Amino acid sequence: MLEVKGLSAFYGDVQVLWDVGLEVREGEIVSVIGPNGAGKSTLLKAIMGLVRPRGSNGPAVLFKGEPLDGMTPENIVRKGVTLVPEGARVFPEMSCLDNLKLGAYSVADRHRHDRLLENVFQLFPRLEERRSQKASTLSGGERQMLAMGRALMSEPEFLLLDEPSLGLHPLMVSALFEAIKAVNERGLTVLLVEQKVTFALECSTRAYVLENGRVVLTGSGPELMGDEHVCKAYLAM
Ligand SMILES: Nc1ncnc2c1ncn2[C@@H]1O[C@H](COP(=O)(O)OP(=O)(O)OP(=O)(O)O)[C@@H](O)[C@H]1O
Ligand SMILES: [Mg+2]
Repeated sequence: MLEVKGLSAFYGDVQVLWDVGLEVREGEIVSVIGPNGAGKSTLLKAIMGLVRPRGSNGPAVLFKGEPLDGMTPENIVRKGVTLVPEGARVFPEMSCLDNLKLGAYSVADRHRHDRLLENVFQLFPRLEERRSQKASTLSGGERQMLAMGRALMSEPEFLLLDEPSLGLHPLMVSALFEAIKAVNERGLTVLLVEQKVTFALECSTRAYVLENGRVVLTGSGPELMGDEHVCKAYLAM
């Protein structure tokens, strides 16, 4: 469904990603793990067109066979790809409900809109209880749910999640991963960047290890859990 090949990315003259390749098939959850500054967020931004992707030989990002290189982020969202960026950014002065509605700005049909909202509330009952509450007064975990709920309101087929568990209490982390699995089971394909490596590998079909802007290792969840380098560097075992 998503294919990244020979991808490089730069901030000004500084190269951050080198020849990155990865593949996500329809229905999968695929994770990217790696240390701080490895280029994980940059990779997601390059897929979304927020950072310019450069291919070594032709397009660097293909979604359902179609190149996304050079497309605006808005058009990429229209293709069905949505990013939940690092840090659960929501509109602080708006209510929970208004934040969610904003996610569905491109959904014109009233019934479809209501059905999407129902789905989000079913997934995150906490958001329904707090629908009128200002987003700035939500807890960190609730805000993360709101950011993900808002992304789901745009009816993506493909969801990019950048460290959704950042700053969450362990119980919240489990709940969040349950929610990720639930949306995946409903047909959403997921590319997940995550520091909670055990959780990420446990719910992923496959994972990639990104270090210093390069993919250094790839394999299934269990394969990577058993890998000596992954154990030492990421699982502190
Ligand atoms: N806007 C920017 N301008 C210049 N350099 C940047 C910019 N954003 C990121 N970088 C640099 O690019 C490199 C990769 O950053 P990136 O945010 O992709 O890392 P990351 O793997 O997501 O790290 P983390 O786990 O800390 O979120 C870092 O060295 C960072 O300092
Ligand atoms: Mg990051």
